Amino acid sequence: MVSVAIDGPAGAGKSTLARRLAAELGYIYVDTGAMYRAIGLYALRAGKDPKDNAAVDALLPEIELRLASIAGEQHIYLKDEDVSTAIRTEAAGMAASAVGANPAVRAFLLDLQRSMAKKQDVLMDGRDIGTVVLPKATVKFFLTASPEVRAKRRCDELSAKGQKVDYNKVLKDIQQRDYQDTHREIAPLKMSRDSIKVDTSDMTIEEVLEKLKEIVVQKVG
Ligand code: DC
Repeated sequence: MVSVAIDGPAGAGKSTLARRLAAELGYIYVDTGAMYRAIGLYALRAGKDPKDNAAVDALLPEIELRLASIAGEQHIYLKDEDVSTAIRTEAAGMAASAVGANPAVRAFLLDLQRSMAKKQDVLMDGRDIGTVVLPKATVKFFLTASPEVRAKRRCDELSAKGQKVDYNKVLKDIQQRDYQDTHREIAPLKMSRDSIKVDTSDMTIEEVLEKLKEIVVQKVG
């Protein structure tokens, strides 16, 4: 099986790129951030603090998380509800970052992620794909961009969806998430030694896409 790992901080352009690259290469796209977001959303809806590990641990047995690919797009379900849109808020992103520091949540999702990569060619994006989830991935990328560029992109993305945005608040959230994601004890965001680092600050999506595609095609043959 071929597996492509794409890691990097919030707003580096991972999901847009990963989705398009997977479609072009004919691999299944697995957005692991969506899984953390769904658990974060579940905790928020249950009235629990996503930072409270014991409270979130108690919810895990009742969480029925399911992924389905519909017309090439990944949809994520909590039981029978399609939460693919509901998870795309800043609040769900912050909750995802908080539950991502919880070891029981990471163990719960690790099994699911690895079993998906065993069954099919995948392109998986997240924070710990190259380091923990798929350490033997065929190709590993680490995408990055300055916090300011990432905040601007996130604002554009949210306003395109009709959400109200405040650049300074988004920048602050990005910096806080960077801190949380890189400083947690378990599976922190870091570049593995065999990753190819791509700084996308001054590149267009098309340029990054071409570059990554060329590298994968070269490697896979
Ligand atoms: O990629 P994203 O913004 O949708 O991810 C949301 C949060 O989920 C992120 O801030 C940290 C957490 N996450 C993680 O801990 N590990 C992953 N593999 C993916 C996401």
